[in-house]
Amino acid sequence: MLNVGMLTSGGDCQALNAAIRGVAKTLYHYYDDVVIYGFTDGYRGLMKKEFRVMTERDFSGILNIGGTILGTSRTQYKYINEPLEDGSDKLESMINTYKELNLDCLVILGGNGSHKTADLLRRNGLNIITLPKTIDNDLEGTSVSFGFNSALEIATNAIDRIHTTAASHSRVFILELMGHKTGWLTLHAGIAGGADIILIPELPYDINVVIDAITKRTEQGKKFTIIAMAEGALSEEEAAMTKKQRKTTWKEDGFPSPAFRLGSRITAITGQEVRVTVPGHVQRGGEPSAYDRVLATRLGVEAARLIVNSQFGLMVCADNDQISTIPLEEVAGKTKLVNPECQLIRQAEDLGICLGQNV
Ligand code: F6P
Repeated sequence: MLNVGMLTSGGDCQALNAAIRGVAKTLYHYYDDVVIYGFTDGYRGLMKKEFRVMTERDFSGILNIGGTILGTSRTQYKYINEPLEDGSDKLESMINTYKELNLDCLVILGGNGSHKTADLLRRNGLNIITLPKTIDNDLEGTSVSFGFNSALEIATNAIDRIHTTAASHSRVFILELMGHKTGWLTLHAGIAGGADIILIPELPYDINVVIDAITKRTEQGKKFTIIAMAEGALSEEEAAMTKKQRKTTWKEDGFPSPAFRLGSRITAITGQEVRVTVPGHVQRGGEPSAYDRVLATRLGVEAARLIVNSQFGLMVCADNDQISTIPLEEVAGKTKLVNPECQLIRQAEDLGICLGQNV
């Protein structure tokens, strides 16, 4: 008899169900007597003993469905020492649930924050295997996370659609894309969608360089400029501030998000009309791309193989075309940033895309 727990934690993304299915199908393939416990809404379900005993049928017909059949929630690691509403200790509750259900292993599908909690559970003696999910692609230890490719398709499509309307008007368009504190999604979508300016957190932008790029295009007779801006992008001035100073400045200026702030500066300096588009959670929604279905399935299959071989304390990762593993402690709490010196950045610059930097 094998008892396996599964939960999805943090923001959802495409192909979570594909990964869940990959784990389950492989386990059922190798074991007749496996029991899978699906915890409701992430770590919260583990803490509160809210779960479903899954059946094989639960994993059918979900390969191409977005979201997660288990539900998810954000359980921030920084609050892990704060008690639950009923006063109980969060870590203790999770360990108790694991022990009471006699679990042999817990499979956690999560992003950056979720990996810190996963590693904490590992350090407390639980058998943990994780799978890297996030549209942000910011998880250390894997060349790509599932969800990223699907979100990239949507973000690129948004830029494509803006192109036709932008070409009909003389306007500057700013698309604010997700990615948390990293620029993976924006950099890739910006290049795929042919953006004129790409702004990412890893390269704080000089507003004068951005303005010059817009002005140059206008002088060349180009009617519009498209800016792909990461939600975490910062101007050089903002990057030089402390987190607290930034919070105060942003509270005072009252803009809903960075793209509106930048748009207002562009209009104030150039007099040009600016439109802002924020695709937001649309980027995380809907069906997974074929690429993500394959990636998530492969990661899921490997997770099950690890369980079969009793290998724990690992994140299943992609090492370019190979599926591999990495110890959880090497991943937890680390963010994979875009390297400003990388080839893709250099190639974007070679193409004449403005990255907000003087080159
Ligand atoms: O981590 C995924 C992500 O979509 C980020 O890109 C974004 O910053 C954040 O989650 C949004 O979080 P929420 O869904 O909690 O609003």
